[in-house]
Amino acid sequence: MALGLEPSRKNFVSAKKKSPKIKFLHQAWENYKSPIFFDVITAVMVFNHISEVGQAFKKAYSALKKQGELIIVSPDFEYFKRSRHYYKIKIIPIDRNQYTAGTIRDSGLIADIIRTQALYIKSAGSAGFKILEEVEILPTGSFIKKSPWRAKFREQPVARLLRFIKK
Ligand SMILES: C[S@@+](CC[C@H](N)C(=O)[O-])C[C@H]1O[C@@H](n2cnc3c(N)ncnc32)[C@H](O)[C@@H]1O
Repeated sequence: MALGLEPSRKNFVSAKKKSPKIKFLHQAWENYKSPIFFDVITAVMVFNHISEVGQAFKKAYSALKKQGELIIVSPDFEYFKRSRHYYKIKIIPIDRNQYTAGTIRDSGLIADIIRTQALYIKSAGSAGFKILEEVEILPTGSFIKKSPWRAKFREQPVARLLRFIKK
């Protein structure tokens, strides 16, 4: 069984339309009460919208089966600081491992908390996870073709994937 969580009404409606065979709940990870245990949990560009990241890891740990995996993709710490395209970006430092980035796009303001991989790995470790893999995500050819301004970031990781296992 696959289950998706989505707190935004617009994204919830569109996810259900795109993947009618998957069950979706209109709620945030913080509010989810897990009645079942999962083999794998994925969160792609989601933990950067969560303020209490330690709690998010603890919840993932308790919602996984033993040896279950958590895969997160999060923004690259350096890339998100850089000025890019015509976006207006406002950076507010928190400490040396995290800052908030407000990006104003056509669709409106997007607020992210950008964290180092070290912070994510430490936080996941405190929840009981062991790191299995760390992968840099570079812009692909088709991504650059769609948005040619990304060509100058060809060599720059834009995001990073972390794969953890429940010990
Ligand atoms: C940048 S989008 C990524 C969407 C999708 N995972 C992808 O990669 O295309 C971030 C998504 O996380 C959702 N989100 C934000 N805060 C969340 C939370 N606390 N729990 C679960 N989802 C959240 C947003 O509504 C949005 O759909």
